[in-house]
Amino acid sequence: MLTRVEDLLQEVEAFNSSNPDEIEQFRIKLLGKKGDIKAIMAEFRNVPVEQKKEFGQKINILRNAAQDKINELKLAAAETSSTNHGLDLTMSGQPYELGARHPLSVVRNEIISIFNRIGFSVSEGPEIEDDWHNFTALNFPEEHPARDMQDTFFIDPEIALRTHTSSVQVRVMENSTPPIRTISPGRVFRNEAISARAHCIFHQVEGLYIDKNVSFADLKQTLLYFAKEMFGDKTKIRLRPSYFPFTEPSAEVDVSCQICNGKGCNVCKHTGFLEIMGCGMVDPNVLESCGIDSSIYSGFAFGMGIERIAMLKYQVNDLRHFFENDLRFLKQFKTAY
Ligand code: PHE
Repeated sequence: MLTRVEDLLQEVEAFNSSNPDEIEQFRIKLLGKKGDIKAIMAEFRNVPVEQKKEFGQKINILRNAAQDKINELKLAAAETSSTNHGLDLTMSGQPYELGARHPLSVVRNEIISIFNRIGFSVSEGPEIEDDWHNFTALNFPEEHPARDMQDTFFIDPEIALRTHTSSVQVRVMENSTPPIRTISPGRVFRNEAISARAHCIFHQVEGLYIDKNVSFADLKQTLLYFAKEMFGDKTKIRLRPSYFPFTEPSAEVDVSCQICNGKGCNVCKHTGFLEIMGCGMVDPNVLESCGIDSSIYSGFAFGMGIERIAMLKYQVNDLRHFFENDLRFLKQFKTAY
């Protein structure tokens, strides 16, 4: 059986045609309802248990290779027939390979879509930010360590690269009246040593909801909805008390470990949970700094790192992969988003 899969793989690699009918015939022969791959799949239950894994992987490789080849050839055929009646001397001798979105974009788009569905809009702001929007309006005390050169990239004493996209939310609050329901995706910068778990540039999505009578229960339900949409229906969340200058009370949010389903494993250090974000009720001082009456309105905020979510979702163990743009890594993320 394995040799049959390998033979077919060679056949796929060798196949070439610019004739759309031939390409379609080839697709039906391999990927059609009665095609070769379906026939092999039907034999899957006869494969000895110890070979099932290898066999399954090989079939996946074969199926992807066949689909990629057909897509490439179809694209090349369509381009040839639409230009110069089949002859375009400027075209590449090789079929173009289809590109893929960067995994961070895939995850960012997915997060945006999850929050869009419950009425959150997207807001963006500058990466170079002033002290007011990044720190002061957010209730950071004068001596807070984040204001130190060690943690923040300053351009001059008043201007820095933003350390979070909470700065965008300050801008939104200053320029609109509640109800406000928005998320701010974007690139942020912190003066950290680069390692498998940290980078001096990373990406965040932060969320803000302000209206009359917004409660901590609303925050919890929103985050539970997010976790289930992102990681699957069985996902649980857990909130641990924490501290941020701009929220009170504040919490860190954990999701049940995807790898062991909460039973405890090396990845979750046997706790069954993994941290994904910070959150809390917007501190009244922040609302007042942004011109919102805190005796009428309340709200919640949360913020997560896109890299972290992507690492958990795709089980990537080194954050640096996202920045190196090695095609062998990036090619694994061909998706619809
Ligand atoms: N701004 C925080 C950070 O960058 C995240 C956060 C946002 C926490 C909103 C609480 C509320 O780490």
